[in-house]
Amino acid sequence: MDNRLILALDYTHPDEARKMVEKLGPTIGFYKVGQIMLANGGLEFCKELKEQYGKRVFLDLKLFDIGNTVEKAVMALSAFQFDFLTVHGDPYVVEAAVRGRGESSTKILAITILTSLDREDLDGALYQNGDLDTLVGRRAEIAFEAGADGVISSPREVGLIRGLKYGKSKLIVTPGIRPTNSEKDDQKRTLSPSEAILNGSDYLVVGRAITQSPDPMAVIENIVETLPP
Ligand code: C5P
Repeated sequence: MDNRLILALDYTHPDEARKMVEKLGPTIGFYKVGQIMLANGGLEFCKELKEQYGKRVFLDLKLFDIGNTVEKAVMALSAFQFDFLTVHGDPYVVEAAVRGRGESSTKILAITILTSLDREDLDGALYQNGDLDTLVGRRAEIAFEAGADGVISSPREVGLIRGLKYGKSKLIVTPGIRPTNSEKDDQKRTLSPSEAILNGSDYLVVGRAITQSPDPMAVIENIVETLPP
């Protein structure tokens, strides 16, 4: 088991996720659950992951709303003692989440710019001009200033974020990881697992490359083997 690897359980139903968790046993110690499973008892499944299976849990909801709503939602979610929780990196959202988290140990991670987006997508969404790296760096900076414990970032932007004023002391969690010779799916700013760690990433989030493989265990072993210490 390598604690730097987080497996994204992007299943609609906990039954499918549970099968994967059972199959992998102690090989994976940290799981990410997100919006896809919510309608079918995703939160209860997170509880099960923690209490029955003894796993660390990352709840990836990417919350984004008025401050009062985010604060109260995070306050209620804190009862689950998630290890990581995501919100969008807009400063007022991060500040509200940090208030809502209170004394709980849940780490608030901010989304800079989704790793599935490129400049063309940002134009379509009316984001301000400028290259993507600069915008990601600025988004990370304002999220840190607002109190985020870390950021979610593309593996390509990790070096840049580490170089920011607060970058050294914060968590950097990177999705958009593709082992060499696997499909990119809808991710656009990808790198391999070892490149991401070498760039300074603390945790890697991998989903489909593992969950859609006919031999998930082999893919995990392959990833872990290539990781620098
Ligand atoms: O299947 P794949 O490895 O692309 O899964 C990546 C996971 O990380 C998905 O659950 C996706 O929602 C999540 N994620 C992401 N980009 C972010 C934040 C989270 O791809 N900025």
